[in-house]
Amino acid sequence: MSSQIVPLIIIGVSVLFILGIKFLSSPKTARMGNLVAAAGMLIALFALLKTDGSSVWAHGWTFNYALIVIGTVIGLVIGAIGAYSVKMTSMPQMVALFNGLGGGAAALVASLEFLHDAHGTEAVTAFITVPMLFATLIGSLSFSGSIIAYLKLEGKFEKPMTFPGQNYLNGLILLVILGLCGWLTFNATGGNAVTAFIAMFALALFFGIAMVMPIGGADMPVVISLLNSFTGLAVAADGFAIHNNAMIVAGTLVGSSGTLLTLLMCKAMNRPVTNVLFGAFGSSGGAKAAAGGVAGTVKPIQADEVAMLLAYAQRVVIVPGYGMAVAQAQHQVRELSEELGKRGVEVQFAIHPVAGRMPGHMNVLLAEANVPYDQLIEMEQINPSMDRVDVCLVIGANDVVNPAAREEKTSPIYGMPIIEADRCKTTIVMKRSMAAGFAGIENHLFYKDNTRMLFGDAKASLNALVAAVKAN
Ligand code: TAP
Repeated sequence: MSSQIVPLIIIGVSVLFILGIKFLSSPKTARMGNLVAAAGMLIALFALLKTDGSSVWAHGWTFNYALIVIGTVIGLVIGAIGAYSVKMTSMPQMVALFNGLGGGAAALVASLEFLHDAHGTEAVTAFITVPMLFATLIGSLSFSGSIIAYLKLEGKFEKPMTFPGQNYLNGLILLVILGLCGWLTFNATGGNAVTAFIAMFALALFFGIAMVMPIGGADMPVVISLLNSFTGLAVAADGFAIHNNAMIVAGTLVGSSGTLLTLLMCKAMNRPVTNVLFGAFGSSGGAKAAAGGVAGTVKPIQADEVAMLLAYAQRVVIVPGYGMAVAQAQHQVRELSEELGKRGVEVQFAIHPVAGRMPGHMNVLLAEANVPYDQLIEMEQINPSMDRVDVCLVIGANDVVNPAAREEKTSPIYGMPIIEADRCKTTIVMKRSMAAGFAGIENHLFYKDNTRMLFGDAKASLNALVAAVKAN
């Protein structure tokens, strides 16, 4: 490809990346957003291929088509198998793994460049060394941290691993890493540089593990989003190191969108990022403090009684949560809403920004079941009218409807914005037991006068409910 035309193509590719992100912001256009961004990446790959067989990087490395093809095919096969076989509930794990691999790849690119220069005789300027060190440090800690996040989401570590002085020890490791980076910036060639660089790489890998180990499994989506932004920054730094503008643009976009998503999630949980990173949420019995101290009684209800209530309702709001994802009950939810719609009932879905275990979890599931987008209403929009809702169906949601967030100052979720299901005329909670949700605390909603509990697996309960509504 002629060298004059490549920068122009990269500008076009950057526009495709930005459009892709723009389209991803709405469930209606999200699929197209994915395709547009992927097309941009494909064009960037072809634009950067060299057709004359000369060196592709500035350091005389031979361009190897065979390796590129082998790598692409392996990546395609693993990606396709993953996309088709991974269950929706395991999506956060897949994102963690993919992100980790991205970070690892960014670290390897920078490491190879650094080691190549370190073995050379020419002096290397800080302008080149700093991005390489940055990419190696951030990419490798993102790799090891993401692997731990993946294992935590898989339930391999029950609780956050904490010990006294842990944050100080982590701080000390970080200081040593930064010290090594500082030294390497001005001493980037020779045997000592290679040894110091390998030590820095190893410590960065260890730091990724040490950083994520104390964080509760429940906070993993936030951590993954943060590590995702780290990976983006590592890729952008690689771009500076190997003079690749496409990597600078793509990495910066990933870095900034990951940071924004992290902050949005923290805002939706009403917790600062520092609390997520250093608070070890869910590590102590503190989370269970409210158990047993809630006033009121639990009042079970049967599916046919709920159907009777629905028969007289004019406005119904459905609040989906993690349990709907576990039960894979989204198709039954859509069936119920259609049945009610046929009977002239106004049905809406109240979507909490952190319902489930990943951003947009509920939107994705409901879109998969073909629930019309205009029925999905965001928390801020629906809350003011909750007292005019005849029946609220809470399906596998727990923390995101817990009034303790409003009522109990000592609650770990105090201040977190919730969907105010307790203000509806009647609220039906569908779950299997009285077990706590992600935050591990009692839910005040279950004990309110206007709440009834429909116990059972959400899919089975909904099947029974749809049958009872049809029979009415
Ligand atoms: P949770 O509070 O985790 O509650 C889910 C409930 O679903 C559980 O209480 C469980 O009760 C029930 N359940 C599980 N399997 C079920 C099944 N087969 N049928 C019926 N019910 C079932 O969920 P939520 O309300 O969606 O809240 C999400 C939580 O995750 C919040 O605390 C949020 O802060 C946290 N979080 C979310 C994110 C993102 S980005 N979404 C990120 C970080 C943290 P039973 O066991 O009794 O059935």
